[in-house]
Amino acid sequence: MLSILLAVGLFQASGPLQEPAYQPTWESLNGHDTPQWFKDAKFGIFIHWGVYSVPAFCDTSTYSEWYQYWCDSGAHDGLERSFHARNYGEDFQYRDFAPLFKAEMWDPEEWADILQRSGARYMVLTSKHHDGFCLWPNQEASLARGYPWNSVETGPGRDLVGELLEACKAKGVRPGLYYSFMEWHNPLYENDKARYVDEVMIPQIQELFQKYQPQVFWPDGEWDHPDNLWKSREILAWIYNHAEDPELLAVNDRWGKGLRGQVGDYSTTEYGSLGNSSGKGMRAMRPFEECRGIGHSFAFNRAENYDIYASRTRCVRELIDLVSKGGALLLDIGPTADGRIPVIMQDRLFAIGRWLEINGEAIYGTTRSPFQKAPAWGRVTAKDSVLYCHVQEWPLDERLEISGLRSKIRSARVLGGRKDSLPVTGGPGAWAVELAGEYPLEHATVIRLELEEIPEVTTSKS
Ligand code: GLC
Repeated sequence: MLSILLAVGLFQASGPLQEPAYQPTWESLNGHDTPQWFKDAKFGIFIHWGVYSVPAFCDTSTYSEWYQYWCDSGAHDGLERSFHARNYGEDFQYRDFAPLFKAEMWDPEEWADILQRSGARYMVLTSKHHDGFCLWPNQEASLARGYPWNSVETGPGRDLVGELLEACKAKGVRPGLYYSFMEWHNPLYENDKARYVDEVMIPQIQELFQKYQPQVFWPDGEWDHPDNLWKSREILAWIYNHAEDPELLAVNDRWGKGLRGQVGDYSTTEYGSLGNSSGKGMRAMRPFEECRGIGHSFAFNRAENYDIYASRTRCVRELIDLVSKGGALLLDIGPTADGRIPVIMQDRLFAIGRWLEINGEAIYGTTRSPFQKAPAWGRVTAKDSVLYCHVQEWPLDERLEISGLRSKIRSARVLGGRKDSLPVTGGPGAWAVELAGEYPLEHATVIRLELEEIPEVTTSKS
């Protein structure tokens, strides 16, 4: 097996050859445990930033990071294509946007501060999206295309990956990198995918890990080809065998056509759907992460108006809903080409952060609701012998009914509330918490129930 890794240049034989911990088989690779920090984190920030942030335009139903593809394909009745011709001219090529991607107002420390204030525990930056432009000084990107195609040789003139990940680590936000397997307009990708994988993809991924040691690795753009073509198993074995601390590393499930939900450390969904996935393994009880923008796009889309952006309450309740189902939220922001996070996106992140300052214990480190069905008044999360009732519909009679809980409630109180404890009435299967004297907080009010034991619920479907 080692010969395969040597063949693809993944291993440089140095020192005594010993059996690596991980072999390039899904059986071996799936033996890697999802790190506990990732299971506990529950909330990350996705950042889609690149050359596509210059036009920052597409039909408001979809993703503006696909601008090049929408223009090439004449999608949306030619909306993007005619926008391009009108504003830049038909002879202006997508690659001509790169020098305009200046990031002249970019302050990585400011971004890291915003991410930290949001309450996010990790971040994932697009190191290279489907357009192949690298946000770090990668040579393979420029060599494969025959023109400067990274953020040091053109545009910002800076190592955006290096600076931002350093700033985030300093703020205690764990660093993550998105990386697209597929590329548009790369002659090597178009003419010889095997050479593209060996001469571009593998060296780029190795360089990302050797230079930046991300703790989250977020492959994407895998859906057209099987893992064999991408050499995914060899790459992931190399990553796990060479990571500074493989136990800290979390990778997603996007490693080859039809594999989502079955491989990697966690499953991914996107805007509530399985995306390009067969979804075959998505029912497995393992951590999952839902990613979505605050509007309809991952990268900044100047065509999106105020009404498209999710409200502060919608963002908070999205996080609560996902965590109550055993998942995490990777909420995306799309910065501008000059390096700013749009203020409406900052507003949503700060609203989540303020809510988490009071209610974080009901999110971080919790497990999915023990109930089969969500109660009418909201959602439930759990942590050992504590239940957190996230009340979104405040009961008019100021009485919170908790049906289906057999365990005895020892005490109850509102997180951030006025009173140290609230009266509990009823009995097993039909408890109630008297909320008189308390009042609903913005977005959701958490009632913390200390139980006599790990929650025991009735399994009836009712
Ligand atoms: C899809 C899109 C890509 C986006 C990703 C995020 O793969 O192609 O634009 O970055 O979803 O989940």
